[in-house]
Amino acid sequence: MEYVKDKIVFITGASAGIGKACAEIFAENGAKLSLSARRIEKVENLAAELKEKFGAESYVFKMDVTDRNDVEEKINALPEEWKAIDILINNAGMGRGLNKLYEDNVDGWEEMIDTNVKGLLYVTRNIVPGMAERESGHVINIGSIAGREAYAGGGVYCATKHAVNAITKSLRMDVLDKGIRVSAVDPGMVETEFSVVRFYGDEEKAKSVYNGLTPLTGTDIAEAVLFCATRPKHANINEMIIMPSVQANAFMTYRKT
Ligand SMILES: NC(=O)c1ccc[n+]([C@@H]2O[C@H](COP(=O)([O-])OP(=O)(O)OC[C@H]3O[C@@H](n4cnc5c(N)ncnc54)[C@H](OP(=O)(O)O)[C@@H]3O)[C@@H](O)[C@H]2O)c1
Repeated sequence: MEYVKDKIVFITGASAGIGKACAEIFAENGAKLSLSARRIEKVENLAAELKEKFGAESYVFKMDVTDRNDVEEKINALPEEWKAIDILINNAGMGRGLNKLYEDNVDGWEEMIDTNVKGLLYVTRNIVPGMAERESGHVINIGSIAGREAYAGGGVYCATKHAVNAITKSLRMDVLDKGIRVSAVDPGMVETEFSVVRFYGDEEKAKSVYNGLTPLTGTDIAEAVLFCATRPKHANINEMIIMPSVQANAFMTYRKT
């Protein structure tokens, strides 16, 4: 087992949900955290909490992954002691709507593609060269069951996560000779702010997604990410698919009403 103590872990989308849970579990295990999101105050509060609880050191900054210049500038401007990133967790992502493709809101498509695909690419493009130079590093992409299967009303979200799956596989080949590992963690339903964002702030509709079933928590996924990050150097977890016990695939769940 490899330990993450004192390793620099760079997490996008650390203000909520899975990203926040990853920050917590890595802090508990002694890692140094480089944390970002757009809602900087939430990330600052989290960093303060993790300092208090685990003595964790964090570097916190505001970054919008959809803004190519912002990503480049923020990563270039990392203080010297935060530059040698050991583990990149590409987590920032979102869904918008659950509508028939031919009736769907095109603005939502732009947001999903810009965040889930282009955002992940910008961050990866700016961090992996340093890992390649040091011949060391681990990229862990948070994909989704939506990257493995398509479901009705999820055409564009599923397309973005299928893209993440393809990027993960290609990147693994591209860095094979560089001592860098690449893993995908692909969850089913996780109760986070995801559905609230998907339904544009409609809390009631978001809640109803989890009616009659026990979804995964951010911590369930963070534990899987930590497992990937703690394998011995010669072993890589290529992919993990984690589902609630009552979800068989992307579109079939068992609900007790
Ligand atoms: N929840 C699920 O059921 C589920 C299932 C499979 C996969 N996933 C994936 O898991 C990842 C995390 O989602 P979650 O469930 O934890 O949702 P969440 O609670 O809504 O968290 C999403 C995070 O992404 C950040 N983010 C969104 N747009 C961003 C941007 N443009 N720039 C920087 N950060 C941005 C948000 O921060 P700010 O808003 O503060 O920027 C937030 O911290 C996503 O990639 C999602 O697709 C979720």
